[in-house]
Amino acid sequence: MARPDPHSHTDLTQPRQKHLVWKAEVDFAARTIRATATLRFDRGGAQVDLDSRGLLVESVTSPDGGQLRFELGRAEPILGERLRITLPPGVDTCAIRYRTGPDASALQWLEPEQTAGGKAPFLYSQCQAIHARSVVPLQDTPRLRITYEAELTLPAALRGLMAAGAVGREVQGDRAVERYRMDEPIPPYLFAFAVGDLDARDLGPRSRVWAEPSVVERAAHEFAGVDRMLTSAEALFGPYPWGRFDLLVLPPSFPYGGMENPRLTFLTPTLLTGDRSLVNVVAHELSHSWTGNLVSNATAEDFWLNEGFTVFAERRILEVLEGPEMVALHAAVGRQALDEAVTNFRDRPQLTRLRTRLQGVDPDDAFSQVPYEKGFLFLRALEDSVGRPAFDRFLRKYMEAFRFQSVTTEELLELIRTELPGALEAANAPAWIDGEGVPVDAPVARSSRLEQVEKLESELPPLAAKEWSPWEWQVYLNHLPRPAPPELMAALDQRFQLTEAPNPEVLVAWLTVAIRGGYPPAVRRAETLLGEVGRMKYLKPLYAALIAGPGTRSLAEAWAQRYRKRYHVIAAAGVESLLRKGA
Ligand code: BES
Ligand code: ZN
Repeated sequence: MARPDPHSHTDLTQPRQKHLVWKAEVDFAARTIRATATLRFDRGGAQVDLDSRGLLVESVTSPDGGQLRFELGRAEPILGERLRITLPPGVDTCAIRYRTGPDASALQWLEPEQTAGGKAPFLYSQCQAIHARSVVPLQDTPRLRITYEAELTLPAALRGLMAAGAVGREVQGDRAVERYRMDEPIPPYLFAFAVGDLDARDLGPRSRVWAEPSVVERAAHEFAGVDRMLTSAEALFGPYPWGRFDLLVLPPSFPYGGMENPRLTFLTPTLLTGDRSLVNVVAHELSHSWTGNLVSNATAEDFWLNEGFTVFAERRILEVLEGPEMVALHAAVGRQALDEAVTNFRDRPQLTRLRTRLQGVDPDDAFSQVPYEKGFLFLRALEDSVGRPAFDRFLRKYMEAFRFQSVTTEELLELIRTELPGALEAANAPAWIDGEGVPVDAPVARSSRLEQVEKLESELPPLAAKEWSPWEWQVYLNHLPRPAPPELMAALDQRFQLTEAPNPEVLVAWLTVAIRGGYPPAVRRAETLLGEVGRMKYLKPLYAALIAGPGTRSLAEAWAQRYRKRYHVIAAAGVESLLRKGA
C-alpha cells in the first residue's frame, strides 16, 4: 500500500506533507497565478513524489536558498505530472516556485461580462476531487492533511477570499495583499479561494454571506436562517469544529450547487429564489463540516462516505427545521434521481456500488447520485435495524473516532461491527456496499403529501397544486412517462406556467420532460437557460433531453458549442461526453 490512492502519486513510504506556506500573485491579464509553495514534511532526507497538473515549475529550493533536484514527469491522463523532489538529509522543507498553466482545471477565470456586476473579472477555484494539483504542487490525496498560511496578491479594487481564517488585508498602491491561515489540518481538495468584486452581509455571530454587490442583499435574505441551521446541526452532531461558517455566492457558471470549503461554503446563485426553498443545499454543505471535512473519505473510491453521510445529516437538519413530511419529499426526489443514475450507468454497473474501484477512472466521470442517495438509503437501513437512538450514538462515535482523519469503507464497517453488532447483517450491508443497483428492500419514503402526488400518476394536477412545494412538483414531473403526451404538456403549462417557473429545480424537471415531449416553448426556454447557468445538475439533464428529444439533437450540439466558453472546464467536459455518448 505504498500508493494508497489511485488518483495520486503519493507514496506513503516517503515523507508526508504537514504544512504549506502559499504566496501567490493573481494575474488576470495573463490568466495565471505566480506562486511559491513552501512545503514542510514530517521528515527530510528522502525523495518525495508530489502531484501537479499543468504547472510550470521554475525552481525548487531548500530553506538556505540552495537549489534542490526536481524532476517533472510526463503528463499522465487523470493523474497529471509527477513532481519528484529530493530532500537532502536534515532538510524537511522545500520551496517550489511555479506558475499555473493556462488550462488549470481547478480555476475558472471569468470575464467581467460573466459576472453580475459586469465590470470586474472574477476568479475562483474548485479543487474536489483532484484539481488542487493544478493550483499547488502537493500530495493531492485526502489521506494526507495539511495546515496552511497563504498570502494572495491581487488588484486593490478586488477582494480575495480563502476557505480559511482571515488574518488581514494590506493595500500597497494598486495591489492588495490578503493573508489567511488554516490551522485545522485539511485534505487538499478543501483548499479554496475566490477573487472578485465582493461584498458581505452578516447573518449571525458566526456567519456572513459574500457575493457581488448587486447580489449580496438577495443572498442575505435567502440565507437569513443560517444561524438557526448551525445551532440545529450542533445539537445533532456536536460542536461546530471550524469556527466560522461563511457563505460565498459565486457567479452563475459555478458548476456545483455547493462546495463545502471549510469556513467558506461556495454556493451557486441559482439558490437565490427569494423563498428560501433551496436552503437544503446550505444544510448539506454545513453537514460536510462533520462528514467530509472532519472525517474525510480516504480516496475517491470511498466518496460515498462523504456524500451518503452528508445527505443523511442534511435530512436530519431538515427534519428539525421543516418537519418529516418535507424530508420524505426530498428523499422521494432523491430516490428518483438514484434510479435514473442507475439506468444511466447500465453500461458501467460497477459504478453503482457504494465502494468503487476507480483505477484508471477520472472521479469527475464517476460522479453521480449513487454515492449520495444509495449511501443515504444504506444509512437509513442501518438506522432502521438498530433504532434511532443507537444510530445517533454511533454517528457521534464515528465522528469522534476519525476526527481530522480520513477513513476507508472497510474502517467504517469495522467500527459498525464493534459498535453495532449484528447491524451489518440485519441491514444486508454487502448488497449495499459491493452490490450493484439498489437492494429491493431499500427503505421507502412515506408521507401523506407524497402519496397525494404519487396517486395522480399522469393526470393533470388540480389547481390547488399551485401551492405545491418544489419537491412535490419534482416528484410529479419526474414520474411522467417519457415522451409524455403533448396535450398534457400544453395543459400543464397553461395551468401552472411551468416554462416560467422561478424555481430552477422545478424548471429543469419541467423542461426535461417537456423537451422530450416535443413542446416548443420548452426548447426555447432551454436555449436561454443553458446560456445563463453552468451548474452541471441542470446542464446535464437539459442536454440529455435535447439529445433524446424529437429533432432537437442538432440544437444540443449547436448550443454546447456556442456556450462552451461560458462553462467551467469540468462542466464543458461533462456536456461533451454526453454528446459523444448520445452519438
Ligand atoms: N462536495 C460536493 C460537490 C462536489 C462533489 C464537487 C464532487 C466536486 C466533486 C457538494 O457537497 C455537493 O454534494 N453538492 C451538491 C449539493 C446537494 C447534494 C444538496 C450539488 O452541488 O448539487
Ligand atoms: Zn456533498
